[in-house]
Amino acid sequence: MSELSPILIRHARILMPDDSFLLGDVYLENGRIALVASEISIDTAGIRVINATGLTLLPGVIDPQVHFREPGLEYKEDFFTATCACAKGGVTSFLEMPNTTPLTTTQAALDDKLQRAANKSLVNYGFFIGATTENLPDLREANPTCGIKIFMGSMKGPLLVDDEAALNAIFSQGDRLIAVHAEDRTRIEERCQQFAGVRDPAVHTQIQDNEAALIATKRALRLSKQYRRRLHILHMSTGEEAELLRQDKPEWVTAEVTPQHLVLNTSAYAKIGAKAQMNPPLKSERDNEILWQALRDGVIDFIATDHAPHTLEEKSRQYPDTPSGMPGVETSLPVMLTQAMQGRCTVAQVSRWMSANPAKGYGIPNKGKIVKGYDADLVLVDLNDYQPVLAENLATKCAWSPFEGWELTGWPQYTIVGGQVALDRGVFNTSVRGKALTFV
Ligand code: DOR
Repeated sequence: MSELSPILIRHARILMPDDSFLLGDVYLENGRIALVASEISIDTAGIRVINATGLTLLPGVIDPQVHFREPGLEYKEDFFTATCACAKGGVTSFLEMPNTTPLTTTQAALDDKLQRAANKSLVNYGFFIGATTENLPDLREANPTCGIKIFMGSMKGPLLVDDEAALNAIFSQGDRLIAVHAEDRTRIEERCQQFAGVRDPAVHTQIQDNEAALIATKRALRLSKQYRRRLHILHMSTGEEAELLRQDKPEWVTAEVTPQHLVLNTSAYAKIGAKAQMNPPLKSERDNEILWQALRDGVIDFIATDHAPHTLEEKSRQYPDTPSGMPGVETSLPVMLTQAMQGRCTVAQVSRWMSANPAKGYGIPNKGKIVKGYDADLVLVDLNDYQPVLAENLATKCAWSPFEGWELTGWPQYTIVGGQVALDRGVFNTSVRGKALTFV
């Protein structure tokens, strides 16, 4: 049976677009969802039948912020290992960041990434183009791209753009989405001096503090309002930013939060040391609570992992020589579904934050919902089986997780990408390839 044979998923608990669940069947043909019904009676000769009894069918996850390290940093991760991890985590599409080597700041670099992903990616892919102070024409013309990434702080080299004139030029020219890493460079540099010599990674949160995030988020919001420019605020980490957006969020602005900024906080440093170090840093339990409320209230639109793998050797150095970032694509859906099963939110909300809303925010057509005619990007999860996160089971090349030892439920059993089964009851089909995403 070839990979693009039709698939009949039987007896699944299907999440419908109105947030209800239908106990029924879904028929996939030519990479699309052909039929959703309580019972589909067809001749199954030549059709792959998946018995989904006891499993819940959700739209595939769209992870709108990842760092997959290829080209140039493949010792940390590459498109193949990263997208096996995606398949394991129910992530069927990703949007990847430009801080690779070379930087993704030109059409040629973008084309190179698209080609590499076409060769190696098990899931669908899209890429940001990185802003520098010198690539305005590239930012205007690059294609296809999900948007322009600006690091306003917490970055070294050409991708750091915090000069007012340069920011004005980028915000005022063109109309494609601008996604900002909002942390203020000046404040971070001052506080780096103040805390110089401290070797405890917990100081990372004091250096890149709530104020550093708030200053930059306010600035991005001001520029977006001045030019009515589509803005997306990446990985919001503080209650202050959430409260700011609650008061003042133009309709053309969206925001995201990571699972780790919802369920981890500064107490993680004592447990996992520099593995808890990321940018923007984890904050307090109070920040967790305000971010959760903002997410539930729709002030924050979606969830991204900021998957940013570094090797264990790099993470075992002494702060500040430890790099910032943690992997996330293979645990994000189980982490969030576990929260749902424990009553923090609903399964339908998790799916909206991880599938429908990123599709809408980035203008990705035909994805994020289980609807006839939509792409057959789907995940079947088991909500009733708690399994621990174990390093030896991870597909990411870095081979660690900040959630090791956590008992999670909602693990993907099958992940389907464009009608092809990429994860089949825990086994990868490594011949599956995703497609380049389009953005409207
Ligand atoms: O923690 C982070 N790591 N935040 C970023 O913005 C970059 C990322 C990386 O590439 O390692």
